[in-house]
Amino acid sequence: MRSAKGGWTICQRYETTCAPALRYFWIVSDAHSPELLITGDGSHTIRRGGGPTYHSLHGALTESRHIYQEAGLRALLEFRSQNPKPSAEEGERVRILEIGLGTGLNAALALETCLEAPLLRIDYTALEPFPLSPGWMMDLNYASFLREQAWQVWAEQYPTLFEGLRTQGKGAWSLERVGLAYSLKVMAQSWPCPLEGPFDLVFWDAFGPSHAPDLWEEESLVAMDRCTAPGAWLVTFGASGAFGRLLKGLGWEVQRLTGPPGKREMIRARKP
Ligand SMILES: C[S@@+](CC[C@H](N)C(=O)[O-])C[C@H]1O[C@@H](n2cnc3c(N)ncnc32)[C@H](O)[C@@H]1O
Repeated sequence: MRSAKGGWTICQRYETTCAPALRYFWIVSDAHSPELLITGDGSHTIRRGGGPTYHSLHGALTESRHIYQEAGLRALLEFRSQNPKPSAEEGERVRILEIGLGTGLNAALALETCLEAPLLRIDYTALEPFPLSPGWMMDLNYASFLREQAWQVWAEQYPTLFEGLRTQGKGAWSLERVGLAYSLKVMAQSWPCPLEGPFDLVFWDAFGPSHAPDLWEEESLVAMDRCTAPGAWLVTFGASGAFGRLLKGLGWEVQRLTGPPGKREMIRARKP
């Protein structure tokens, strides 16, 4: 709906039910209505108006698997299995922080990993100031790509999660089966903000420096450093020299790995 005043659109589905304090989620400029795109590997991504796409156009799923699932979660689990702590309990627990839940693809891939790995517990916390409505989530074609029905399981709970985000600014969901546990907490907030940590693995997946410059600056990284555990990892599609230098300045070891198709490099960093 276009207002006579400033060209703002109110998402009609939620117009009548939105709590006033939370309305800002559903009030988006005309330039931000979502658009569904097919990427190079056949998986969907989203773009709001003329803004950046949520994933690489070379392949949304390929990018998410490469950076967040393989170079992130799976590599961390592999590293831990080769460097077990003397006090390690049976099974692993990974506390993940994601900056920018977006479509939820990274969260669903973490669920896929959890469903495939015996004795794994994942506590996943994500921030998303502009959550996608369940209708958009349902239109994404990830179900045919993810194993263990991870997308179906994840997407089925999303309407309830979204309702929590809409009415209280936060939503939670958890799944427990023999040998595995996955718990998800999403907050409709922008980074940086106070969070209970510590986290073992950070998915730095908000928009790039040209669209979200503050996120790539020192203050934002100092806040991230504060809420991560010793030995924590961070993975991101970002590969700028400035970002790497900021991480190094905080004492993190920075690795440059081969990026997904279309991207020469990505960053993985480890806190000492
Ligand atoms: C590149 S997309 C995320 C892709 C997502 N991880 C996925 O799997 O679909 C960037 C997301 O970051 C969110 N975002 C933008 N600024 C943010 C901030 N300051 N804090 C947290 N999220 C932010 C955007 O709303 C958008 O959904």
